[in-house]
Amino acid sequence: MASIIHLSKLHILILLVFCSCFLHNTYVTSVTLSLDTDKQTLFYMKSKTITQPPDALATWDPNTSPCNWTRVSCGDHGQRVVDVDLSGLGISGPVNPHIGNLSFLRTLQLQENQFQGIIPETITNLLRLRILNISFNSIQGAIPANISRCMKLRIVDFMQNKLSGSIPEDLTLLVNLQILNLAGNHLSGSIPPSIGNLL
Ligand SMILES: *[C@@H]1O[C@H](CO)[C@@H](O)[C@H](O)[C@H]1NC(C)=O
Ligand SMILES: *[C@@H]1O[C@H](CO)[C@@H](O)[C@H](O)[C@H]1NC(C)=O
Ligand SMILES: *[C@@H]1O[C@H](CO)[C@@H](O)[C@H](O)[C@H]1NC(C)=O
Ligand SMILES: *[C@@H]1O[C@H](CO)[C@@H](O)[C@H](O)[C@H]1NC(C)=O
Repeated sequence: MASIIHLSKLHILILLVFCSCFLHNTYVTSVTLSLDTDKQTLFYMKSKTITQPPDALATWDPNTSPCNWTRVSCGDHGQRVVDVDLSGLGISGPVNPHIGNLSFLRTLQLQENQFQGIIPETITNLLRLRILNISFNSIQGAIPANISRCMKLRIVDFMQNKLSGSIPEDLTLLVNLQILNLAGNHLSGSIPPSIGNLL
């Protein structure tokens, strides 16, 4: 009897330790990333980007709120950036890994540019992402295996890039997926039939 009680106390202790770690992580995340870091991230990305026309992102001025910038939207209470649309701006070069700091992002539209290089692994930090469109670029390499971390993904459009490697099995974990377009790449394997709500 005594040992059973002892065990359950130990369990509770383990649970408490686990819970406090979890809370601690949540806390750290919410204090390190903010509307201000969203602004820094976007402004940093802009500083590495040449657009066509060159003044397309002229409103991305660090003295104003990013919620006021063109092609950027914030959530209902204006606390964080939720949508970024950089489509059709003639952008070349890599997708900036800093994108992974926009932790409240729901929509990321990078289609119709000349983005090169890989899909940065940091994109798997965007746990609220619902729409990811990078179609019509020159993105190469593999689809990040951890893409399933972005559990809210509904629309994934990678059409017409240079992606290679096998289609990750992990995609089957994206239960909210409605559209998955991988056409026009160099991917091997087939789309697992059990993916999300795909027909
Ligand atoms: C956003 O833009 C409006 C109108 O242009 C301006 O009145 C407001 O001060 C701006 N807000 C911030 C935080 O930059
Ligand atoms: C943003 O992300 C980059 C690369 O992932 C990282 O090095 C940087 O420290 C981050 N910045 C902030 C403000 O969190
Ligand atoms: C992604 O962008 C392309 C190019 O603008 C567009 O044709 C396509 O409909 C978009 N994909 C989805 C699923 O909305
Ligand atoms: C992604 O998955 C690999 C194993 O497949 C793991 O080693 C890595 O830590 C994961 N990265 C993230 C950001 O979760």
